[in-house]
Amino acid sequence: MQPFVHVRQRFDDPASALAHARDLLDDETLEVLGDFVIPTPGPSVERDFQTLHLDFGLPVRPVGPGDVARFTALHVPVGLPHSGAATRFVRLSSLRGRGGWPDLGTAVRRLEAYGRSHGAHDDRDGYREGSLARICEAVLSARPALPSLKENAGFLCGTEFAALADERDFLAGLGLDVVESEVVVAPGELLVFENLAVAHGRRGVRGVHELHQRVFGHRALDEDGQRLLRDRVLVEMMGGPD
Ligand SMILES: [Fe+2]
Repeated sequence: MQPFVHVRQRFDDPASALAHARDLLDDETLEVLGDFVIPTPGPSVERDFQTLHLDFGLPVRPVGPGDVARFTALHVPVGLPHSGAATRFVRLSSLRGRGGWPDLGTAVRRLEAYGRSHGAHDDRDGYREGSLARICEAVLSARPALPSLKENAGFLCGTEFAALADERDFLAGLGLDVVESEVVVAPGELLVFENLAVAHGRRGVRGVHELHQRVFGHRALDEDGQRLLRDRVLVEMMGGPD
């Protein structure tokens, strides 16, 4: 499957759309990790963008078995007002660093250090990072500029930037050329993407409960399995081992 597939068919209901998503996946071992109807009422609804992220996060330092999302399906039911909001994508393999990426071992060590100093609320829970900006900052910057979750217990993940342009500027400041694609899912349609191959976000404001989301992946994957996937994602992102 391509990193993302826009199925322009008009499905009559969320159940049939999300069942079709399963047929597009070429890995029969994947389980349904959850069904969500989003966005829920709250601060995220009011923002006119959502930062680029990986659902369930990248398992940087797993402690014990954990769920890892591999594919996400999004469907907008017919009959709802169409917000016109777009899902934005950035292929991780397209993130070419002007200053170059480090080798895999260095990247992992930097990510783990970022988790200890900055990114994890509580080290006893291990560290998984969903924010693309934080993953890139951890690997590329010696001096993190984003707010520390460790020092700000109340910090809401995903509110690192006040505007979409700030996120772009931040990634450019790390020396990254970022190429985005956008997909607008019309009512009835389906969008399926590979969660660890593209970071995704949103441009525009969605109506409450506009999206029906199904997440497919590995349930309670062991630590070695999580580290293997983490390393595969980083190698893909950084363009292969040096
Ligand atoms: Fe998401």
